[in-house]
Amino acid sequence: MKNFIFYNPTKIVFGKGQIARLPELILKNQKIMMTAGGGSIQKNGVYDQVMRALEGYDIVEFWGFQPNPEYETCMEAIRKAKEEKVGFFLSVGGGSVLDATKFIAASLCFDGEDPWDILSKGAPVQSAVPLGCILTLPATGSESNGNAVISRRERNQKLAFSSPEVMPRFSIIDPETTVTLDARQTSNGIVDAFVHVMEQYLTYDVNTPLQDRQAEAILQTLIEVAPQVKADPKDYDARANIMWCATQALNTLIGCGVVQDWTTHMIGHELTVLFGLDHARTLAIVLPAVMRHQRVQKRDKLIQYGRRVWGIQDADPEKVIDAAIEKTIRFFESAGNPTKLSAYDIPVADCLIAAERLSGREGKIGERQDIGREEIEAILRLGA
Ligand code: NZQ
Ligand code: ZN
Repeated sequence: MKNFIFYNPTKIVFGKGQIARLPELILKNQKIMMTAGGGSIQKNGVYDQVMRALEGYDIVEFWGFQPNPEYETCMEAIRKAKEEKVGFFLSVGGGSVLDATKFIAASLCFDGEDPWDILSKGAPVQSAVPLGCILTLPATGSESNGNAVISRRERNQKLAFSSPEVMPRFSIIDPETTVTLDARQTSNGIVDAFVHVMEQYLTYDVNTPLQDRQAEAILQTLIEVAPQVKADPKDYDARANIMWCATQALNTLIGCGVVQDWTTHMIGHELTVLFGLDHARTLAIVLPAVMRHQRVQKRDKLIQYGRRVWGIQDADPEKVIDAAIEKTIRFFESAGNPTKLSAYDIPVADCLIAAERLSGREGKIGERQDIGREEIEAILRLGA
């Protein structure tokens, strides 16, 4: 097992009606900026619940974070937060609102010249304005980690940073807020959480049987619950189980001491920049292609995954791998996420630029640093 530090101070407040607990979680002696997206929280009553809970607090609002939140919008929010002397941020929405809020909170305390350096140059985040979260979309795990991903379309960039300073002080996770998610966002959330687990699991063994089984438990739970929520989008327990899976998938616990490989996400981010595809839609295309391309390097874990997660009993390990990849594809497809670029009428030739850009920026990726430009091109061709 590799050395690790595990630090997760986010208080999780989980369950029905928990937004009413906000006054126990935020002090009154400061100005709060509530951040939000395009209006879903107004339609589903979450905004009203927040305002009721925070009656008597000094609140300003900032609306308009897009899915794959845009740098320019964050800069507008930073200007407003400075003017208003904001002391606490409350993100209400999905991962995009929360990621934007984390970037704003870090930028306000950044003493370098340009906050974009946090993303593009890995400039250190020494501190951040404190923030809390009300999560309405289970997918990213952002509610319980220090990561944020910000896009800058004018430069065709989508970049991430990570810092414990921006971990939410608390996250209220009320599954009832998610019943208004449409089939597309529900499916995206399931696939994103699934792939987060796979990126921390499907590498090579360094003797971490507990982490492996924790990862497998999340995968199996997602596989079990996905059809339930599809059959009945109002099924509270199914929504609750998906939400807790998504948090556990990327709250850094299953990643402790293991070898990770974020190739699928890195290639996926490039596809989002190029074609505007939803984050999880890119992952459903790229992961099966990575599994095929890295079949030899990931062999032992692919077999373990096939046997333990999918219960494939075949004695021939090669057949187990084939079936495991096939079952993964079928799972994504049945959840609602196509696994081929052609489903979006995207010719593979238009994607190859992603290989050049990603390898130019990151060098070789993968758990063995053996995925460069040519390999990324080959992976994209497998996703055609
Ligand atoms: O903007 P509003 O009106 O709120 O609508 C949103 C948005 O259109 C809507 N929505 C959210 N909650 C809803 C709802 N609609 C109905 N009912 C509800 N309860 O859903 C749409 C998508 O929301 P978004 O926040 O973009 O989705 P998600 O949570 O999947 O976040 C995606 C972003 O997170 C990044 C992705 O790259 C992408 O930019 N990621 C962040 C990570 C992290 N911080 O750790 C890790 C991930 O791998 C990922 O990269
Ligand atoms: Zn993701």
